[in-house]
Amino acid sequence: MKKAENAKVTISKDGPYLVTGNLPLDKEEIGCDAEGNPVEFKKVKDYPTQEKYALCRCGASKNKPYCDGSHAKTGFDGTETATNDSYEDQAAVIEGPGLVLKDAQGYCFGAGFCHGGGSVWTLTEKSGDKRARDLAIDEACKCPSGRLVACDKRSRKGIEPSLEKSVTLLEEPRKKVSGPIFLKGGIALESEKCRYEKRNRMCVCRCGQSQNKPFCDGSHVGAGFKDDK
Ligand code: FES
Repeated sequence: MKKAENAKVTISKDGPYLVTGNLPLDKEEIGCDAEGNPVEFKKVKDYPTQEKYALCRCGASKNKPYCDGSHAKTGFDGTETATNDSYEDQAAVIEGPGLVLKDAQGYCFGAGFCHGGGSVWTLTEKSGDKRARDLAIDEACKCPSGRLVACDKRSRKGIEPSLEKSVTLLEEPRKKVSGPIFLKGGIALESEKCRYEKRNRMCVCRCGQSQNKPFCDGSHVGAGFKDDK
């Protein structure tokens, strides 16, 4: 497989995401424990790797995940409304005894990994205890939107999962909906309007309903978005 070195996602005006640079594309389900708490990502499909491809952003394509031009027929308004302030500028800082948690709520879409073993905020407050600290790090690292970043208490550096540059379509079976596009590994994301900060974990809307475009805000749940329709 060719390496996705100059990988980029370009947000076209009122149209699809143009993905370039041999970025692998797959689909993963958010898997839950016996209590129904999200705990893992499970790969369910690989798509053929292509040098470039266009992913539907309006939610109306009949050939999802790819664009079929439906945005033009439906008059899709893809106006980007998200702030381009840096993560650092947006994030609240929660100081725990053994860990610092950063929380930029604007990126949240409710994936729910932050509640599994106790809430990540409570665990951070109890992070003098190793088990609580480790759980808080695990929960923050699994947050696909990158809202949550656990940071080392001494160096204050973010603790990030190691992710290859790739594109994942997320499914949320517990909510019976298809979710956002998970951009992994620090992929450049840009449009006519701006260049967004490159983050290791970013989730962009593919249902067309987000009020925080290009990022997912959880509106796909209320919209009952399914990518097989
Ligand atoms: S995919 Fe559109 S709001 Fe989540």
